[in-house]
Amino acid sequence: MAASRIYNFSAGPAILPPEVFERAASAVRELRTNAHADDGEGIGLSLLEISHRGADFAAIHAKAVALVHEVLGVPESCEVLLLQGGASLQFAMIPLNFAVPKRVACYVDTGAWSAKAIKESVTLAETRGHETAVIASSKASGYDHIPALPEALPAASSYVHVTSNNTIFGTEFEQLPDVDAPLFVDASSNIGSRPFGLERATLGYAGAQKNLGPSGVTLVWYQREWAAQQPSPAGVPGILRYATHAAKGGLYNTPNTFGVLVLQLVLEWVRDNGGVTAMATRNQGKADALYAALDASSLFTAKAKPGSRSRMNVVWTLGGAPDDEREALTKRFVTAAAAAGFAGLKGHRSVGGCRASIYNAFPPEGVTALCEFMREFERTQ
Ligand SMILES: Cc1ncc(COP(=O)(O)O)c(C=O)c1O
Repeated sequence: MAASRIYNFSAGPAILPPEVFERAASAVRELRTNAHADDGEGIGLSLLEISHRGADFAAIHAKAVALVHEVLGVPESCEVLLLQGGASLQFAMIPLNFAVPKRVACYVDTGAWSAKAIKESVTLAETRGHETAVIASSKASGYDHIPALPEALPAASSYVHVTSNNTIFGTEFEQLPDVDAPLFVDASSNIGSRPFGLERATLGYAGAQKNLGPSGVTLVWYQREWAAQQPSPAGVPGILRYATHAAKGGLYNTPNTFGVLVLQLVLEWVRDNGGVTAMATRNQGKADALYAALDASSLFTAKAKPGSRSRMNVVWTLGGAPDDEREALTKRFVTAAAAAGFAGLKGHRSVGGCRASIYNAFPPEGVTALCEFMREFERTQ
């Protein structure tokens, strides 16, 4: 399989476990009553051609939701939805549903994705009458760290939104903060990578395409009782209301049936490989090795400050040289790396430099091989 010949450092859609690719391919050919094991009976139909209202898909959906609780530690008191529209739709759905007129929607600005979430709240505030406050930001220093939160929130805060891992800038909250308001978290790029306090979130969400599955399915969860006590927002179309989806057991309209099955398979893989705590050990080992190589180098420099460094997206620059030379050097490095079988190392276009995304499924030996390649590249400059 192509995936075994190259190490895939893509930020997302990203590497998934090879076993998951095999089982997903098998389910596309013919769904078995137990897609996770080889013992189920073939149903004579592909996963892609069955109704989302039938018993076969209902079983997949129920299993996926149960695994979100069991494997990711999302409390049973939370509603779990597997929606479409990506994490970006949640940037808008959150203020549409939970920003309250005359109250303050609070945001922590730690990078491009936080900024997009803030922008949606600001846009909606014009017609909906809430306020948006950025209560902490690391923008001034190029988003190179996680800023400290203020001791006190604005009066009448309706929620605090944080991005637990910043995919583009390579910073990460060590643990989710304790705040005096409902905590909302965009956990798209570090969900399931280690325990970091997700159970304390009143609402969380994650596009699946990094640690959970393919693009096109977004995990959303929120505290059911808390949501029931919130005022029903006026003028919000049904499809954009969480309550609409929850009232139909998460199947208000046709979900991404393929995405839901792959998410189920990925969570089974996490569970069968020791769960999130085992992922934490594996991910810490990979990140430590890569940051150690960067810190020991005089050519490569890690962008994120120690204490804020992401275990999922490691971002660095090359250089010392003037900007134009640095860019040429970076290009040379990325091209040489790709030729040697290391794909997806080019940094995000807004940041430049390099980025290695080393999600759960990324093998530790790929990091060892990259570190060796980097040392050799530096030696020959
Ligand atoms: C942290 C974070 N939030 C949100 C998004 C946007 O996700 P989507 O493209 O699924 O809307 C991304 C995409 O990479 C992300 O990394």
